[in-house]
Amino acid sequence: MYEEYLDFARSVALEAGGIMLKYFSGDNGKSYKSDRSVVTRADTEINSMLIDRVRKAFPGHRVDGEEEQYGEGNMVWVCDPLDGTAVYTRHMPMSVFSLALVEDGRPVAGVIYDPFTDSMYSASLGGGAFRNGEAIRVNDFTLDDSRGASNYDMWSGAPYDIYEVLKELRDTTYFLSIGSVIRASAAVSEGNLVMTVFPGTRHKNCDIAAAKVIVEEAGGKVTDIFGNEQRYDLGDINGAIVSNGKVHGEIVALTRRLFGYRDK
Ligand code: IPD
Ligand code: CA
Ligand code: CA
Repeated sequence: MYEEYLDFARSVALEAGGIMLKYFSGDNGKSYKSDRSVVTRADTEINSMLIDRVRKAFPGHRVDGEEEQYGEGNMVWVCDPLDGTAVYTRHMPMSVFSLALVEDGRPVAGVIYDPFTDSMYSASLGGGAFRNGEAIRVNDFTLDDSRGASNYDMWSGAPYDIYEVLKELRDTTYFLSIGSVIRASAAVSEGNLVMTVFPGTRHKNCDIAAAKVIVEEAGGKVTDIFGNEQRYDLGDINGAIVSNGKVHGEIVALTRRLFGYRDK
């Protein structure tokens, strides 16, 4: 049902991957945005290329890219042109491209592409999740299973203090912070990580929209930081927990207690 959209998203992802590799060495043309986060020539070039491609292929659709937006409507291509810019500018090959088609707030098809290992993750609602055409599945580890590892993101000024979560789990859970929440989400979808916990809010729908459909089609769960469903077409989100499903309730109980959640 969504095959036409997935084909389109995969072809844009491959083109984006080429741009990421082109600027990976050297100074990447980096500059700083008003929120002090870093942006490179690759981020902006990929975002413009996407808008150009959507205008031609789906003229009635909207684009919500992290660096540039276009159009109007309820069918929205939500894109992080380059996730993991901080590691990219330090020449560490951990960054990915991410694109989701969001219909009335709900991601219905999505791709995540890692050009450094040529890994294309894709999924559509009800159609399963795949890496380079092979079906993928989340793992079934608990947080205290020594075979498992989880990821977190945290930065100064983040809306939720994820270090509080880490402190609670310090005796049971092995944590990494790989610098790209989307790369980490792809790893959850293929069973390489147990979960990732993300405190982002402002215009962070770009980080989680594709992960939502890919991880859930692989058998996992993706919610806001308190375990609630959320829309992915409004720009802002309320953080995220991306997990194998099995540990989801445990992390939600923790974030609700630590961050003073009150049910409405
Ligand atoms: C960043 C990555 C990182 C997270 C930051 C994001 P960007 O995205 O997702 O993992 O910790 O909050 O801003 O800026 O590289 O697209
Ligand atoms: Ca980005
Ligand atoms: Ca991002």
